[in-house]
Amino acid sequence: MQIIHTIEELRAWRKSVGKVAFVPTMGNLHAGHMALVREARKHADHVAVSIFVNRLQFGQGEDFDRYPRTLQADAALLEQEGAEIVFAPDEKELYPRVVQQYKVEPPAIQDELCGAFRPGHFRGVATVVTKLFNIVGADVACFGKKDYQQLFIIKSMVDDLNMPIEIVPVDTGRAEDGLALSSRNGYLTPEQRAEAPRLYYHLSRMKTAILAGERDHATLAQQTSDDLTARGWQVDYVETRNADNLKPATHTDHRLVILIAARIGSTRLIDNIEVFC
Ligand code: PAJ
Repeated sequence: MQIIHTIEELRAWRKSVGKVAFVPTMGNLHAGHMALVREARKHADHVAVSIFVNRLQFGQGEDFDRYPRTLQADAALLEQEGAEIVFAPDEKELYPRVVQQYKVEPPAIQDELCGAFRPGHFRGVATVVTKLFNIVGADVACFGKKDYQQLFIIKSMVDDLNMPIEIVPVDTGRAEDGLALSSRNGYLTPEQRAEAPRLYYHLSRMKTAILAGERDHATLAQQTSDDLTARGWQVDYVETRNADNLKPATHTDHRLVILIAARIGSTRLIDNIEVFC
């Protein structure tokens, strides 16, 4: 496995190999990321993983500065998993002009769900992912369903802009108690970590109710929101949407996704669950 820091070297490698599968990440890798790498290996003999904490997708007062940077440990995990290339550019390599002048502007969905609480976040994601796609030139890229709205925005961007890459969704990796794996789980105190699986508990509860015929999505969401608030969480949103277009769920939709974002202390956690009913 090779760690590459420059675009020039990455491009030289790209030219020398056949089909490439790509996994973009911000590092501090865990078993959820590793599932993406394993999926990538099914699609191509050559797997490249990028590690870049993208300033453009963090808002003022968010955790850009304290986001864990653990390149050596990440590289060891990726080597075990059979990645061929780790692309770890520094900020000057990806953003040489200090201010990125051309940005990729996603449509209105960028201001809903997480976008309503993180203005500009998905513009930053779409911009860096486009840059990385242009640099890596991969045939396939894997994205986690853990970040459902991000996956949707990337899929529709690739479709709308005819980007020559196939997007492969990968199921959410969870701890045994149901908590979705996330680099941000490392911020939790032991007490918060014990409380955190409540997000998945409520997603499962709502899914069971919908599968049993309940269609009052607003009431189900309000119950979740009330319980989380009573237990000290700050709820950003609990919403049930159409899984295919992320529009608010209607009574005739049969493919749904329930999405939650809530803060416990200063840590913002997100999770979701699909419901096919
Ligand atoms: P990051 O949060 O590091 O996630 C990298 C990829 O891993 C994303 O596709 C994300 O959905 C996936 N992932 C994270 N936790 C997961 C889990 N528990 N199960 C399955 N997949 C999981 O998402 C980003 O970085 C950035 O926004 C990025 C796309 C790299 C652009 O900067």
